[in-house]
Parts: sequence; C-alpha cells; structure tokens
Amino acid sequence: MAYFCLNASKIAVSFLANQSHSARFAAYRLASTAPSYQHIVVDKQGAKTNVGVITLNRPKALNALCDALMREVSDALDDLEKDKDVGAVIITGSEKAFAAGADIKEMQNNTFAGVYGGNFLSHWNRVAQCKKPVIAAVNGYALGGGCELAMMCDIILAGENARFGQPEIAIGTIPGAGGTQRLIRSIGKSKAMEMCLTGLPITAQEAEKLGLVSRVCAPKELVSEAVKMGEKIASHSKLIVAMCKESVNQAYETTLQEGLLFEKRTFHTTFATSDRKEGMTAFAEKRSPNFTDS
Ligand code: CAA
Repeated sequence: MAYFCLNASKIAVSFLANQSHSARFAAYRLASTAPSYQHIVVDKQGAKTNVGVITLNRPKALNALCDALMREVSDALDDLEKDKDVGAVIITGSEKAFAAGADIKEMQNNTFAGVYGGNFLSHWNRVAQCKKPVIAAVNGYALGGGCELAMMCDIILAGENARFGQPEIAIGTIPGAGGTQRLIRSIGKSKAMEMCLTGLPITAQEAEKLGLVSRVCAPKELVSEAVKMGEKIASHSKLIVAMCKESVNQAYETTLQEGLLFEKRTFHTTFATSDRKEGMTAFAEKRSPNFTDS
C-alpha cells in the first residue's frame, strides 16, 4: 500500500509541521522508505498532525480525475480511516484546479457495454462513504467530476478564485458522479437545473450565497483554514463525530420523520459511550474533556 506520509516517523512529522506545504511534501518523501502515489500526495498536518490531507497532484491535466487517481484517493481514505490519530480529512488540489472533471481523454472511446458492464465510476462513491469528516478545499476549477467530488465531501471551503460547474452537457453527456442529485439537494432545483443544462460555472461567491460552500477564503490561506477546521473537528471525540456525521447525512436519504427518529436514537446511543459521560462531566467540573474515542 502506497501510504508514504503516514508511515513517516513521528520525528519527521513534528519537524515538518513547521515547514511550508511544498517543503513538507519533499521532506516527507525523503523521510519515508514507502513508495509514493503517482497522482496524489498524502500527508498529515495540524499541530497534532491529526488532519489527513490528500492533495490531487496531476497538474498537467488540471487534476482530471483519471481512474488511477480516484483509486489512489480510495486507498488513501482507507488508510486515513484506519489511522486512529486522524480526526478529519481534507481533499484539495492546486491553486489553478481542484479538479477539471473526469478524464475526458480516458473516457473518449468507452462504450455503453463497457461502462454499464463495469459500473463505471461507481467506486468514486468511496469518498461519500468515509466515516471520518472530509473537507473539500477548492481553489480554481471544480468542474464536472471535480464539482461532484467536492460535493461528496461533508464541507466545502472555497478559495476566492474557485469555479464550480457541471459542463458535461457541452461534451454530449450528463453528470455521472452525483451532480444531478447532490447539486439539487444543495442549491435547489432551478439553479441546479441551470448549471446542468447550460454547463456554465458559478463563482465561489455565488456558491457561498447558494449554500454550496460554507466559506470563501483567500486562495493562499485555503488549505490552512481547512486544516484549522479539521483540527477543531479532530479535537472532539472521533466516535461521537462519526455518529453526528451519520445523523446529518440521514437528512439526504430519508423523510423528516425517519430522520428525526434516526437522530433521536443516535443521540440516545451517545449515552452508551464514555465520551458522552466525560464531555458532560468535564463541563460540570469546568475543565477540558479528555476524550478516548470510546
Ligand atoms: N479531462 C482530461 N484532460 C483535461 C480535462 C479533463 N476533464 N480538463 C483539462 N484537461 C487537460 C487539457 O486537455 C490540457 O491538456 P493538454 O495540455 O495535453 O492539451 C490541460 O488539461 C490544460 O487544459 P486547457 O489547456 O484546456 O486549460 P485552460 O486553462 O485553457 O482551460 C478548462 C481550463 C476550462 C478547465 C478546460 O480545460 C476544460 O473545459 N476542461 C474540461 C472540463 C469538463 O468538461 N469537465 C467535465 C468532464 S466529464 C465528467 O466529469 C463526467 C462526470 O460527471 C464524472
């Protein structure tokens, strides 16, 4: 398994916490004997190195999401999910492109029989199935599959230069990784329909106004803002965070009454955990909680 950054030594990790992003990548490569990924870079950031960061790294193709890249993202998520220290994950790209969509050149000669038979793109859903919170930090283009990848994440932070769009219609196809479904749940029918049918992108500022993104940041500060958010989430009980994420996500899948029941039962279930007891005891004793993720 190519998971070089998380296998790097603790010493390297704490040393690297103070380095620039690119210096960190380079040094991680040196610090590890494990093989690196081809299309992504994975590291752990934050003062406690408890935020996993997956950086899409196919600059010549504007991070077009070829099959190999998305398989690497799945593998990285598998590993970050297993890593007990990691409390949140960030997926980001470059300042020019989060991702310009599925790889059109790779898809160009696909046939109906092939994509239907192989259930093409179904494995992308791994991102939406991650139990840990995933934050998309989007600078530049998030088009087609790039916009869909961002929407598979739990929270989207956008750089001021971000552009979100579903331009598939212009190349004779339709969104195939959730665009027609997640967009409508996020920004409503009229705007989702406009984006899918015209293929025209919206700006980061429009996306914030519509509720697609939670916050717009300066492009250079985007990843550090996402890491700060990841650290805040990681400071809570990982067990309770996972339960909370699952409950919020139920709102996408069920009726209100079913969702409310799911929430209530999940809330009740927190009373079976040590962390619920610790959190409330710490509040009453006016001290910080010491969560054990149990
Ligand atoms: N797939 C494959 N290659 C891509 C790509 C994509 N989605 N997007 C960009 N590239 C490649 C270009 O072919 C080009 O490669 P070469 O240098 O080898 O020619 C390189 O990235 C740089 O791209 P441009 O020269 O086009 O850069 P630009 O700054 O002029 O334009 C852009 C940027 C507006 C994003 C333009 O590249 C573009 O329109 N890309 C396609 C966007 C798109 O249609 N996305 C949807 C894909 S389909 C999909 O995602 C299906 C789904 O639902 C999962």
